[in-house]
Amino acid sequence: MLCCKKADKQTSGKESNFNGNFAVIIYFNMASAKTIYTCQNCGAQSPKWLGKCTSCGEWNTYVEEIVATKQTTGKLSVQISGNQPLTLDKIETVKNSRISVGIEEFNRVLGGGIVPGSLILLGGDPGIGKSTLALQMALGLNAKNILYISGEESLQQIKLRAERLSNNTSTCLFLSETSLENILAHTEQVNPELLIIDSIQTISTEMIESSPGSVGQVRECTAAILKFAKKNNVAVVLIGHITKDGNLAGPKVLEHMVDTVLQFEGDTNYMYRILRSNKNRFGSTNELGIFEMRSDGLREITNPSEQLISKVSHDVSGTAIAATIEGVRPFLIEIQALVSSAAYGTPQRSSTGFDLRRLNMLLAVLEKRAGFKLIAKDVFLNIAGGLKISDPATDLAVICSILSSNIDIAINHKICFAGEVGLTGEIRAVSRIEQRIAEAAKLGFSRIYVPSLNKGFDAKKFKIDIVKVSRVEEVFKTIFA
Ligand code: TYD
Ligand code: MG
Repeated sequence: MLCCKKADKQTSGKESNFNGNFAVIIYFNMASAKTIYTCQNCGAQSPKWLGKCTSCGEWNTYVEEIVATKQTTGKLSVQISGNQPLTLDKIETVKNSRISVGIEEFNRVLGGGIVPGSLILLGGDPGIGKSTLALQMALGLNAKNILYISGEESLQQIKLRAERLSNNTSTCLFLSETSLENILAHTEQVNPELLIIDSIQTISTEMIESSPGSVGQVRECTAAILKFAKKNNVAVVLIGHITKDGNLAGPKVLEHMVDTVLQFEGDTNYMYRILRSNKNRFGSTNELGIFEMRSDGLREITNPSEQLISKVSHDVSGTAIAATIEGVRPFLIEIQALVSSAAYGTPQRSSTGFDLRRLNMLLAVLEKRAGFKLIAKDVFLNIAGGLKISDPATDLAVICSILSSNIDIAINHKICFAGEVGLTGEIRAVSRIEQRIAEAAKLGFSRIYVPSLNKGFDAKKFKIDIVKVSRVEEVFKTIFA
């Protein structure tokens, strides 16, 4: 049932008058406000409450929101006003205008710093270190005029955190506020070069009635901040929550609105954190920054390979080093495998940081092509450092570590691998092979196994023994002969 009634003396479009699950349409003055139900997962809208979203299929995601709509006459205005179209040569170039954030890894992910007037969305799991990263950036930019708004923490809590980061002398201004109107008023007054808002889900505007964090609030607040940022040329870093599926909470349109979407990820049980960009209007999305969470804040890791390989002087069975690439960044990583007799009927397969389905596929390839009977064995795989690796070039190191554990023969710790394994046991070409080889050579490895299908590079210029292989059997023969 949909019931409608006249409002008494309303002058604005923000009054709510809910009646259980029924939408109440309120008429007043010239503009009309109506309530609409919005799916908090995908942003789909419906005039009625729905248990299951017809668009994304999620249950119980519809929330009532008020939308104010202007009455239109149905006539399109075609008067010329505002900016004129220009050719490229007439558009002014702004040189060296990026704001360097003082954290090299962060700068690199951004493509060289923050572009003035741009909107950056920084997302990540709770407790991963978003606020720490933002605060560290704000405190590090001493010469700049920065306004840090926190809707999650009080000023005292921010101070405690800053003391932990051992930086108490910054000129950055702090404000604990959740009202968008107040935030914009303060920003107008302070006129900062950089505005940091922690987090967009805690900010709400009076324009709409729904609670902070709802699709409507997030969308409206971001739109208002975007307009403000572009008009006043203020760069904005918005911190955003992510949902349990790992997507940024709020409507997808949020990601379209902002210029850059950064994702801060990692396993909270480990100290490594990765900052990657999922979208960047002013730089490449292939860059990646690696940090370590310490008791005194985040520390940049400029030489990840050295950190990610355990420094053992003797060889142990079950480990193999993969020359992998994340984004455009090569690093070497230790893969550990443990193969033991299955204690129960069904053998267990478990992997941390590596796709379990891919592990099962590699085990099937081993069984079929290399004749190893792994059916009665439990297989555990672990990527060192709590990192998640999706680069298919790690396949070769994965199967070598499994075999090494299975036959209990160690692989020399000066050997590393790069190669994707196909279903027939062939070793497929991988991307950026020269960068992988160069990284291995730089770290003092003596030999690297690469796919023979990777051609067109000059092997002589690297100070490392490059072994080209085309089938998994070949690799096993040379390593475990
Ligand atoms: P935080 O930045 O509050 O996470 P988010 O804003 O993404 O929710 O980081 C919280 C975690 O970081 C917390 O579990 C404690 C840890 N931490 C450190 O290990 N060292 C530090 O110096 C700080 C400030 C936090
Ligand atoms: Mg936080």
